Amino acid sequence: MMIDLSGKTALVTGGASGIGRGICLVLAGQGAELVVADINLEGARSVASEVQDSGETAISVGVDVTDRDSVIAMTEVALEQFGKIDVLVNDAGIIGVSQWWERETPSDEDWAQVYAVNARGMVITSEIVSGNMKARNFGKIINIASIAARQGSPDIPHYNASKAAVVSWTQSNAAQLAPHNINVNAICPGLLWTPMFEALVKRRANFGSPGLDSKELAGRELFEKIVEETIPMKKEQTPEDIGKMTAFLASDDAHNITGQAINVDGGRRMN
Ligand code: NAI
Repeated sequence: MMIDLSGKTALVTGGASGIGRGICLVLAGQGAELVVADINLEGARSVASEVQDSGETAISVGVDVTDRDSVIAMTEVALEQFGKIDVLVNDAGIIGVSQWWERETPSDEDWAQVYAVNARGMVITSEIVSGNMKARNFGKIINIASIAARQGSPDIPHYNASKAAVVSWTQSNAAQLAPHNINVNAICPGLLWTPMFEALVKRRANFGSPGLDSKELAGRELFEKIVEETIPMKKEQTPEDIGKMTAFLASDDAHNITGQAINVDGGRRMN
């Protein structure tokens, strides 16, 4: 199976960093034209340059997915440039507000802001971008959830709940958009060494890792211990792994898959 996304326009929120950056590079490698969107405009510019340096097409745009006007403006920029959006990847996400890893219990603001970005921001973005897809009777929406959606945990309950909301929204939105020939799916990544997980490891070095005797460990060493102890295949996942699943779900080969949440996690969660 060869995935060919040439002629397709893909918009990736959260494209400036970590998993989003990896998704941008893989989709561009399959021939898609990229809109790299992020609240971190400088980071988005740098990923768009990386894509351009590899001979592919990309633009960058600043967006705050929690702000409807900002999402409308982002969509207008994309449509002015490319005339259509075929693929939307909702990757933008957070796990808490400033210095969240120093708090043993998430604050009201952690709960509110994590829900606002991870769940509500995704809904706003999908509602606005799917307008163009509906008009063209074609589209692919891929929501980046997490294996955190599959099972609660004592340390990051606010994040788990927000990601469970992503899986639920994926099913509802898939049912809403099926009559318009738009596929909506979620990917649940496992454990990836990105800035987000670096922060989570700081929290776990401070307060312990659920189910793990990991005193003394910190940083990358602690991450490797968590991978070793909790992932049956005993390897971490990479942004490229998530990019490849995204490319498949964005391709015509996945035309009969919708409303699903697919774990890419080395077997950590088997559902
Ligand atoms: P990251 O922190 O490297 O990237 C997140 C990106 O989202 C950043 O570029 C950030 O600027 C952007 N962003 C944050 N708030 C935004 C907003 N309001 N509007 C627009 N952009 C915004 O984190 P990572 O790890 O790459 O995470 C990407 C996605 O993958 C997130 O949804 C995360 O929850 C999910 N995930 C990450 C896992 C991991 O192990 N790193 C595992 C499972 C899921």
